Amino acid sequence: MPKPITSYKSTALAMSNIALIKYWGNSNEALRLPINPSISFNLRDLYTTTTVEFDAALERDEVVIDEAPAQGGAYARVVKHLDLVRGEPNATHPKFARVISHNNFPMGAGIASSASAFAALSVAACAALQLSKSEAELSALARQGSGSASRSVPGGFVAWRDAHAYTIAPPDHWALMDVIGVVSSGHKKTGSTEGHALAPTSPLQAARVADTERRFGLCEQAIRQRDFALLAEVIEQDALMMHGVMMTSQPPLMYWLPASMAIMHAVQELRASGVAVAFTIDAGPNIHCICESAVAPQVEAMLNAIQGVKQVLSSQIGGPAIIVR
Ligand code: PMV
Repeated sequence: MPKPITSYKSTALAMSNIALIKYWGNSNEALRLPINPSISFNLRDLYTTTTVEFDAALERDEVVIDEAPAQGGAYARVVKHLDLVRGEPNATHPKFARVISHNNFPMGAGIASSASAFAALSVAACAALQLSKSEAELSALARQGSGSASRSVPGGFVAWRDAHAYTIAPPDHWALMDVIGVVSSGHKKTGSTEGHALAPTSPLQAARVADTERRFGLCEQAIRQRDFALLAEVIEQDALMMHGVMMTSQPPLMYWLPASMAIMHAVQELRASGVAVAFTIDAGPNIHCICESAVAPQVEAMLNAIQGVKQVLSSQIGGPAIIVR
């Protein structure tokens, strides 16, 4: 006899991640299947904690993000994701859920929360319904909420190819950090969902995609051999190729601000002076400085001295998404 289910509530924690080889563009928009493989590491110190409770007293899903009820598109995206988990309408568990989600990183810091948010939501919702899912299945589920969320399910250094992501090295394999120069806290004008759809309008996208396996291979090698010089070269080229595609899309996506450029120059100067630091940039103006942990204080000092840097956030490498309650 299966055990009767008495609780439909679970809490999960998932970290954000920073891509070293970027995902930009889908081969299937609806399923968020990526046009190219990517590599990232999880950000131990920037995470989302989400509680999902299926409750028979509810008449609709309730979603609260950082103490405020979610509205419009954000609400609809969570409901759509719950629909993937809750399955058939005649299932025995209560139909609607209360979702309470909290980001530990400052709201409006311009740090994308969709990766940690959909990874935490997937893990918490499946645990609440006592569905036993493998890490690969949870990663594939998270992917459908936000592509990069697939990489926040496994821990450490993570690669994502096709349906799901997987660990390529544990968090303690290499003591790297992400030191983020926040130059704007405003909301992005064009979010990444729309951005992925625009990627094929750039004539540079085909060349970027055709070259991805080379960059992916070099990045994997750099990680395996802890070769910072190789890592720096390949991740900066990869980020610049993605931004080349963004800037030449129709309409163009121009995310950089003057301070973004100032940081990129400062990072390259610092590296030329022997400091193990390199930059990468997501779909926004903030610059992620990837560095060896030992030089993080120097990188933080460099960022704090640049005009236009509003805030500096730092994170070490973290583990997989986990159930906390
Ligand atoms: O997961 P999305 O749809 O928000 O896309 C993330 C896209 C980038 O952050 C720009 C690159 C990446 O691989 O994380």
